[in-house]
Amino acid sequence: MPIQTSITTVAQAPADAALLAVPFGEDLAPRVELPVPVTPLLEHYQAKGEAGEIVEVPVVRGDAVGRVLLYGVGDGSAAALRKAGAAVARRAKGRDALSVVLPDGARAAFVEGALLAAYTFRIGENGSGAVAAIEFAGEDAEAEVARGRAIAGAVALARDLANTPSSEKNPEWLAERALEQLAEDGPQGRTSARVWDEDALRSGGFGGILAVGQGSVSPPRLIQLSYEPADAPERRARGERIEHYVLVGKGITYDTGGLSLKPTENMKFMKTDMAGGAVVIAVLGALAGLGAPVRVTGLIAAAENSFSGSAQRPGDVITQYGGRTVEVLNTDAEGRLVMADALAYADAELDPDLMVDIATLTGAIGIALGKGLGALFASDDGLAASLDEAGEASGERLWRMPLIDDYVPALESAVADLANIEAGSAYGAGSITAALFLREFTGGRPWAHLDIAGVGRSTADEGLLTKGATGFGVRLLLEWLTGRPGR
Ligand code: BES
Ligand code: MN
Ligand code: ZN
Repeated sequence: MPIQTSITTVAQAPADAALLAVPFGEDLAPRVELPVPVTPLLEHYQAKGEAGEIVEVPVVRGDAVGRVLLYGVGDGSAAALRKAGAAVARRAKGRDALSVVLPDGARAAFVEGALLAAYTFRIGENGSGAVAAIEFAGEDAEAEVARGRAIAGAVALARDLANTPSSEKNPEWLAERALEQLAEDGPQGRTSARVWDEDALRSGGFGGILAVGQGSVSPPRLIQLSYEPADAPERRARGERIEHYVLVGKGITYDTGGLSLKPTENMKFMKTDMAGGAVVIAVLGALAGLGAPVRVTGLIAAAENSFSGSAQRPGDVITQYGGRTVEVLNTDAEGRLVMADALAYADAELDPDLMVDIATLTGAIGIALGKGLGALFASDDGLAASLDEAGEASGERLWRMPLIDDYVPALESAVADLANIEAGSAYGAGSITAALFLREFTGGRPWAHLDIAGVGRSTADEGLLTKGATGFGVRLLLEWLTGRPGR
């Protein structure tokens, strides 16, 4: 569900708030005056001022008892304030209203953390359990609160899309949700869309998307969302060339594995196999409000990888967009087939300056990097560095993985240009060979691939994350695209 907590911003927190959160630092001094001796109290509780730490103090409020939540702000960095915001929101769970005295510094990060921790996804129950209303108090805080809210809202959308069960979510549904993101022009730009249905995919030559989708009663879609900054016409008139970035997301609305069927233990999480596509939809949906200096086109390759009599078979040979043939040795390596079409289309038709794809591509990456780091593969060091930096700044960290040329022969096929997986086991490195497969379709353009199979889903409600889809990639890509204006 979209963020249900209502948000207001005021200059000064009301002194009589029933639930008031107030920051304190390592000096154990609260940042606003309170009618209780706070420092001795914090000392008594052996508080350290760390981010995430909360000391709850009952205070007199007329005839009733109110509460002050003293929250630590650590080093005041964006990461610390995100964590502090999440802790405060979690402590206010179930309450009607919370007033928060914003910390100094990265106030947008604090708001983002609070709203993401308050996210919930439930079907068939009213009320989310999250605090119903938050009032953020700080001088001139409107813009930062708005940015934090916009970013958290985009993450919540990505989580909602990925958390939606596949009984409701198919490629057509995903395309409808994507189109909803275009409702109106934002202050910073405008977004437009195009959707290929099955017939259009066939006449367009999108053989990978069609092959993966052919086993399902719900036909596949390719979804394109395009953002252009508001000042693009003037910049063009001045003779300026506006850079064009393409984002490609994996949109497998359910991954049974196809005829190379997954065991139930692995299959039961596969409604989130469109998490990369959800991130691309959410990012494109947020750009018109947040503004980016470049043009951005999002492509979501959507299909359901079903098990049926019309499904593709191991051993089939398909023709990807652009004419390359691929021997499908394992129908469960379907993500790369749909992604290859979208990348090849972008290369051939959209003339991008660079391409970034995001996909829950390989289970192996979760083994390599765990649930805390996304994988970054890149053909270009500058692009890798800028994404890595955005990862650090946004709190969605990446770890660069190698594209080892020695492993390219792993994807040789006797009957086609490429195989979709290694036929034997001489090379291993399933995440790397998957990335190398995608690279074949990038036309040598600067390209980065984000494998989010490990970080796309959380097993616990903790910090900024909630159990289920994480929306990993939204904060990273919005930071990368909008975080440093004028870049
Ligand atoms: N969607 C899966 C990858 C995945 C696994 C995502 C676990 C999230 C959690 C992907 O389509 C897949 O099935 N990959 C195979 C590749 C193999 C057949 C080469 C895998 O990882 O097992
Ligand atoms: Mn699969
Ligand atoms: Zn998959």
